[in-house]
Amino acid sequence: MYGFKRLMGHSFDNTLVETMQRTVGYRLERGPQNQVLVQVGANKLSLPEISARILRRIRGIASDYLKKPVNKAVVTVPAYFTDRQRQAVKEAGKLIDLDVVRIINEPTAAAIAYGAARQLKKAVIVYDLGGGTFDVSIIQIRDRVFEVKATGGDIFLGGIDFDNAMTRYVLDRFNAEHGIDLSRTPVAMQRIRDLAERTKCDLSTRETAAFNIPFITMTPKGGRSTLSSPSPESSSKSSRSSWWIERSTGWRWCSRFQAVARAN
Ligand SMILES: Nc1ncnc2c1ncn2[C@@H]1O[C@H](COP(=O)(O)OP(=O)(O)OP(=O)(O)O)[C@@H](O)[C@H]1O
Ligand SMILES: [Mg+2]
Repeated sequence: MYGFKRLMGHSFDNTLVETMQRTVGYRLERGPQNQVLVQVGANKLSLPEISARILRRIRGIASDYLKKPVNKAVVTVPAYFTDRQRQAVKEAGKLIDLDVVRIINEPTAAAIAYGAARQLKKAVIVYDLGGGTFDVSIIQIRDRVFEVKATGGDIFLGGIDFDNAMTRYVLDRFNAEHGIDLSRTPVAMQRIRDLAERTKCDLSTRETAAFNIPFITMTPKGGRSTLSSPSPESSSKSSRSSWWIERSTGWRWCSRFQAVARAN
């Protein structure tokens, strides 16, 4: 489950649902009162129900850390969330008896975390490139009061697009070099996606990173790992592939990020 936050508080008729369905791997369905339901295994859950499960997990982590029960929370949401969307977040809290005492805007929370609350009079710009969305906000701080002056961005652009771009690159190169389409092997795809994300994070602090998955054509079968049946001439070559990925390549992949950043 990922990226469903942007659907919070929207009905199934919203055009966002169709766009979402094209980009995510899980199924969205029409529920009672036109609400959006998500197919999770054998269950169909509403968005507040999924959010409640996430909140419950976070509450558990906080309780463990604080060594006492947590019954109240301040929850952050995107600055552009409507009242209805904020209401949906409160509803999620109610489902697990968590009192959402305040809802604050994510860019405001980020600005506070960076110490901007100490400023008496200042305008700041907050860039928030998350997993699935890229939000840009201009915030006016006056006497420790935060006012969101403008928000913009792209709700379908985030870290996952970097991961997907790198995954695509690796699949194409592997196919060109070994004549094997790994996109049809779910286990291989998962390993490539995971490594793509880790490599992306590595490239935040390094100029280049190795992309290397030993025995990529290996699949679990009958409880133990066996090599899947690669064609005889590719069996030795395809068991290992390694490339160097450069940070600058990653930025070229996400030229959309730069376009959005410039526009804002
Ligand atoms: N060091 C890093 N370098 C680059 N990307 C990173 C790094 N650490 C985490 N990420 C990426 O950041 C993304 C998660 O960011 P964040 O926690 O802000 O998302 P989110 O708030 O859950 O998502 P959203 O706001 O889009 O709903 C993931 O794509 C993750 O791979
Ligand atoms: Mg975020």
